[in-house]
Amino acid sequence: MTDILVTGGTGQVGQELRAAALPAGWVLHTPGRNELNLLDVAALTAAVAARPWGAVINAGAYTAVDRAESDSATAWAVNMTAPRTLAVATAAKGIPLIQVSTDYVFAGDKASAYVETDPVGPLGVYGASKLGGEIAVGALNPRSVIFRTAWVVSPIGTNFVKTMLRLGAERPSLRVVADQHGAPTTAREIARALLIVAERMVTDATAPTGIYHFACAGEATWCDLARHVFARVALAGRAAPTVEAITTADYPTPARRPANSRLDTHCINRDFGITPRDWRDTVAETVKELLAKN
Ligand SMILES: NC(=O)c1ccc[n+]([C@@H]2O[C@H](COP(=O)([O-])OP(=O)(O)OC[C@H]3O[C@@H](n4cnc5c(N)ncnc54)[C@H](OP(=O)(O)O)[C@@H]3O)[C@@H](O)[C@H]2O)c1
Repeated sequence: MTDILVTGGTGQVGQELRAAALPAGWVLHTPGRNELNLLDVAALTAAVAARPWGAVINAGAYTAVDRAESDSATAWAVNMTAPRTLAVATAAKGIPLIQVSTDYVFAGDKASAYVETDPVGPLGVYGASKLGGEIAVGALNPRSVIFRTAWVVSPIGTNFVKTMLRLGAERPSLRVVADQHGAPTTAREIARALLIVAERMVTDATAPTGIYHFACAGEATWCDLARHVFARVALAGRAAPTVEAITTADYPTPARRPANSRLDTHCINRDFGITPRDWRDTVAETVKELLAKN
């Protein structure tokens, strides 16, 4: 039996990991915040020491990007101190560690998709704290993968697709930002890719390590994503609002967002054989699931 410790089991990615088909003999342990608080350094160290884990996947994070600007101590504790603690504890026992991270480590001013070696430059507390976590994990556990992803959506939790469906049911028209570029990526595809990486790390002591980018294929703006969502809504015979394109400047938020969140996935394809699916197909599945619930 191979025991895998997953933090953030109640989050978008964590819940999809719990629902995913696992390699034979694997058991995922997904303690919630009450059983394992990422702010509790001693508890994290004890949790890693408790079993001969096959791997640890840190999918837990402080993800409230705007709130982080005024709550930086908590964001840094969850996004940097916790992964650093996990890195020290896992490295002491030779356990592989996968640290889920984000496009927000970049400034978003590159003209093309970001590759793993591009210079970082976070625009806010969330991105800076996640970068802190990346640096700690990379420096402290030689058997680690930093798994950067972006624009996560899923049928559960808080995300753009769910917000659009809620607002679209209340209003005849919506204004959506059309000058930020990325690839909507379902938590289910992330879970699938994480398990491929984890299985390789568990079974192969010489498995590749370091930073890898993962996002669904294709690209979009938030406005494109909203229009795609409402096209599916209309196809399902439901009323859909019109979507007006606006700029980031028209929609001020406490935290600055990268204008370019596109992640190049060539390396994860080359080293782990992972081929991302197109965002349009995966988002269509998500919308279908959400419409079936309501
Ligand atoms: N969401 C995105 O668009 C996005 C984009 C790029 C990268 N990422 C990264 O992808 C990963 C997963 O994100 P997600 O979208 O699944 O996040 P999410 O839905 O916000 O889930 C975050 C998880 O972290 C847990 N958590 C937060 N603080 C904790 C604490 N002090 N103790 C224990 N658990 C705590 C939450 O528990 P509770 O349920 O108890 O709050 C939840 O399970 C994160 O590393 C995130 O940085 C996300």
